[in-house]
Amino acid sequence: MALLFLDTARIQEVKEAASWGVLDGVTTNPTLMMQAGTADLKENTLKIIDLVGGPVSAEVVSVDAAGMIREAEEILAWSEHVFVKIPCTVEGLKAMRKISQWPNGRINATLIFSANQAYLAAKAGATYASIFVGRMDDAGLDGMEVVRQTREVFDNYGFDCYVLAASIRHPAHVTESLLAGADIITLPFGVLQKMIRSPFTDAGLERFLADWEEVTAKAGL
Ligand code: G3P
Repeated sequence: MALLFLDTARIQEVKEAASWGVLDGVTTNPTLMMQAGTADLKENTLKIIDLVGGPVSAEVVSVDAAGMIREAEEILAWSEHVFVKIPCTVEGLKAMRKISQWPNGRINATLIFSANQAYLAAKAGATYASIFVGRMDDAGLDGMEVVRQTREVFDNYGFDCYVLAASIRHPAHVTESLLAGADIITLPFGVLQKMIRSPFTDAGLERFLADWEEVTAKAGL
C-alpha cells in the first residue's frame, strides 16, 4: 500500500483532506510553517496530529549534529506520531545515527537529491528518505529517476527505510511515483484536489442524474 501524506502546515487543508478519508499523514517544513503563518511548531504539529492521527513530520533548524539532536529530543517527545525531519548533510547523518538508536527515533531524512544520499540516510538509520522530485525537475534533472534508483537500491539490500516522494508538483508526479514504487507520496493540497477532478466524471454524473430523472418521471415516481 502506498501511503498518501499532505505536504502542508495549514490546518484547514489538513482538516479538509482528512475528511476525504484517504490521508495517512502530513509533512511540514520551515517554509510551509511560514506559509501557514505560524512559528509555533509544537502547537501546529499537535493540532495536525489530532486531525490526521498518523505520522506528522516536523523539521529541525539547527545545522550542527548536536543542535539537531537537541531539537529532535524535544520534537520526538511531543507525540508517538511525530517524525523528526533531518537534512541529509554530514552533520545530519551524524545526528541520524544517534537519534535512530533511541526507542522513539523516528527520522524523516529530508532534502535528498540522489540515490547515494538516500543510501547514506538509510545506513544512518532514517525511517523515511524524502526525495525532492520537483526541485530536480525544476533544475532540468529527472527527479523521478532518483525515486526509481532508490527503490532498487533499497530492495537490492533489504534496507528498512521508506522511499518518500516529495516536492510533488502535479498529478502526473503522483502516478509516476506510484509506478516507481514509492512507499509514501507527500503532496500539496492543490495537487490532491487536481487528482480527483475529471470533466468526464462530472459529465458522466450529470448524464446519469438526467436519465434517472427522465425514467422516474415517466414511471410517475
Ligand atoms: O516538504 C518537502 C518538499 O515536499 C518541498 O517541496 O515544493 O518546496 O519543492 P517544494
